[in-house]
Amino acid sequence: MNVDGWKQFAAEAAAGLVRDEMLVGLGSGTTVAHVIRALSRLGSGATFVPSSSTSQRLASKLGLRLESLSAHKKLDLMLDGADEVDPNFNLIKGRGGAHTREKIVASASRRVVIVVDRTKLVRRLGEQMPVPVEVLPFAREYTIARLEKLGGKPKLRQTSAGTPFVTDNGNYIVDIEFGSIQRPTKLEREINRIPGVIENGLFVGVADAVLVGHEDGCAKLRSKRDFLKFMRA
Ligand code: 5RP
Repeated sequence: MNVDGWKQFAAEAAAGLVRDEMLVGLGSGTTVAHVIRALSRLGSGATFVPSSSTSQRLASKLGLRLESLSAHKKLDLMLDGADEVDPNFNLIKGRGGAHTREKIVASASRRVVIVVDRTKLVRRLGEQMPVPVEVLPFAREYTIARLEKLGGKPKLRQTSAGTPFVTDNGNYIVDIEFGSIQRPTKLEREINRIPGVIENGLFVGVADAVLVGHEDGCAKLRSKRDFLKFMRA
């Protein structure tokens, strides 16, 4: 079995958390796409709030009932993927460039469950992935120069055609390599203080639980203890 199969194990466990009466936020990415397919297979009667155009298209095509966030103040649950998860359930997100809306939907949700395969678990954030930052195209050069002063290596994300990647919000993404991040709470705040930054992909204190797909199924991590035990096994 390959990593995609591990994602499917976690996605099926995530879909099993959804009840018909719930209002559920959906993140983005390949793992969330598996969650959407699993929900459709189950014939879920819940209502979903997608946080990206890609998830919206897939969920709509597969017949899930969709509403927008503007119709609701509170959601019951958010199901989302991540690029890195640390033992405190802090995250790096945004490989798909959808982290701004994902952070908003997560913040509107009573419970946030992160769905990943085991390759996403890290001791410290930044070990494997850069931190994506959504920036206003108008302020690109200025914002990148300010981001550089935080100590990382910022790089404008580009498409395969060599043009800047554009988010659902019409903005650019700057990926910043920091290496191992010692104080994610402070860094999240510092990045967002820079004019021209819309939102960054550090999600600190957002996730309540993590579903981790692996060779033999899915582990449900509810605490740091669960995380460390899983890493040791
Ligand atoms: C998109 C995200 C995704 O959830 C994250 O990149 C994980 O993606 P995948 O499930 O494809 O590995 O944050 O903005």
